[in-house]
Amino acid sequence: MISSAALGPSRTLPGDASGEDADLSPGAAGGDGDTGHAARDRSHHRHLARTDPGGCWIAQDEEAGPLGAVLSTRREGTWGLSLLAVLPGAQGKGVGKALMARALVHGKACLRGVIVGPPNPVAARTYRRAGFTLHPAMVLSGSVDPSGLAPLDGAVHPGTPRSRDMMDSVDRRTRGGAHGPDHDELLRHHRLLVVDDLAGSGYCYAHDDGVELLAATSRRLATRLLTAALLTMPQGRPVRVAGLTAEQEWAVDVGIAAGLAVAGGGYVCLRGMRPPAPYVPSPWFL
Ligand SMILES: CC(C)(COP(=O)(O)OP(=O)(O)OC[C@H]1O[C@@H](n2cnc3c(N)ncnc32)[C@H](O)[C@@H]1OP(=O)(O)O)[C@@H](O)C(=O)NCCC(=O)NCCS
Repeated sequence: MISSAALGPSRTLPGDASGEDADLSPGAAGGDGDTGHAARDRSHHRHLARTDPGGCWIAQDEEAGPLGAVLSTRREGTWGLSLLAVLPGAQGKGVGKALMARALVHGKACLRGVIVGPPNPVAARTYRRAGFTLHPAMVLSGSVDPSGLAPLDGAVHPGTPRSRDMMDSVDRRTRGGAHGPDHDELLRHHRLLVVDDLAGSGYCYAHDDGVELLAATSRRLATRLLTAALLTMPQGRPVRVAGLTAEQEWAVDVGIAAGLAVAGGGYVCLRGMRPPAPYVPSPWFL
């Protein structure tokens, strides 16, 4: 059933040759119709398939065509699952499990594993059966009320590609491994905020829909970075900060101060590691 790598020798995803992109993301399966998100997601698909062809697979039916896809990566001893999705008509027939097994082979030499999973019971079952510990996560959502946020307690600067060494070192300290080439893709689609002074270091990627990845050497700096990121959100725009395990109370406190709602929101699934902190994971780059 799993008959083709997402990135074969031709270095294309199915559909690229015709100028169309195969979009197997969960959002696309549900038909969210948001072209801005879809374009960013497609760019992420291509980046991941380019960096990790051995971890990215399409399940294909000879007659029906693509049924599902998995995108997984290896980054300095950390295996990450960025996407596992099966088209609605093909769900419940073992396709997801088979894709997951294929992706796990890509990560078999990795000591650590991470998945940011949705509140979907079948996904939770699949990840637990694969040996991951499920850490329930919270999500902050709503539009930011800047009046509730405390003033920044220090400087926050725009980051550049030259912030990479600092980000790699913060990642190794918080999550055990750097994000490597994912910074190229993150910088393409996000604004980067950094702090790097005598008190420590940290960084945060944000876009107008929320914060996607944040890591810092202390909760104080993480709080400053998240506050600064929320202050960059367009007024009245709904934003999300997801994947917050109980270790990220500092982030929940910032969200509450900004008038965001706190709700349950899936799981951070980990293997061989404790929840990184202070840390906000990226669902794509984890
Ligand atoms: C989550 C998802 C990838 C699973 O793929 P799938 O092909 O539907 O799942 P499978 O048929 O391989 O089943 C996986 C397990 O769940 C069980 N399962 C499947 N459908 C189920 C259902 N409706 N109710 C209860 N259990 C179910 C299977 O029995 C199997 O369990 P097992 O390991 O004990 O044998 C798929 O449902 C999906 O794309 N959902 C939407 C997107 C999403 O949430 N993706 C995950 C986040 S990245």
